Amino acid sequence: MNILILQGSPRKSGNTAWMAEEFRKAAEAAGHRVTLVDVAHKKIAGCLACNYCHGKGNGACVQQDDMQAIYPLLQEAEVLVLASPIYYFTMSAQIQAPIQRVYNMNKPPKVKKMALLLSSYSPGVYDGAIGEYQGIRRYWSVEDGGIVTARADEQQTEATRTKIVALVKKL
Ligand SMILES: Cc1cc2nc3c(=O)[nH]c(=O)nc-3n(C[C@H](O)[C@H](O)[C@H](O)COP(=O)(O)O)c2cc1C
Repeated sequence: MNILILQGSPRKSGNTAWMAEEFRKAAEAAGHRVTLVDVAHKKIAGCLACNYCHGKGNGACVQQDDMQAIYPLLQEAEVLVLASPIYYFTMSAQIQAPIQRVYNMNKPPKVKKMALLLSSYSPGVYDGAIGEYQGIRRYWSVEDGGIVTARADEQQTEATRTKIVALVKKL
């Protein structure tokens, strides 16, 4: 399958980047085509709610920023993976911008499944992020491929790698 991972931590060698990379390695080993985009290092503004995309733009977003390179990837993705650190009980601002910029296409047309990778310091801080993920997934009527969370003592461990590999196997 064609898998797109959006990685939303600014820390290039951080815990979320590690989870996204482990997912990528496992998915490629299983024969999937994977694109991993480090959205935290892209220039992606928030949606302007100008509705150009739903009118004159005919699906195109008016904002000419790095999101323009992600739109073709979203058009082709069959699995969409969101990977984010928990910032104040939700996903990072860096990943919220590209999620909300999908407004122009309403739903990435080929996505059948989603998955969520979350990294945090504390346990039990995932409800906000999981609620958003499940809301989007249900709104798009796509399957839940699974969720892996890792708090401080679970970061970059064999146990977390095993959970990610198991999630990839179920895709
Ligand atoms: C701005 C900010 C807000 C954070 N908020 C939370 C939080 O609400 N709950 C929590 O458990 N950890 C919180 N953390 C800690 C990160 O989620 C945690 O260190 C995570 O592993 C960072 O991922 P990274 O290594 O990919 O950057 C926060 C960190 C930052 C920088």
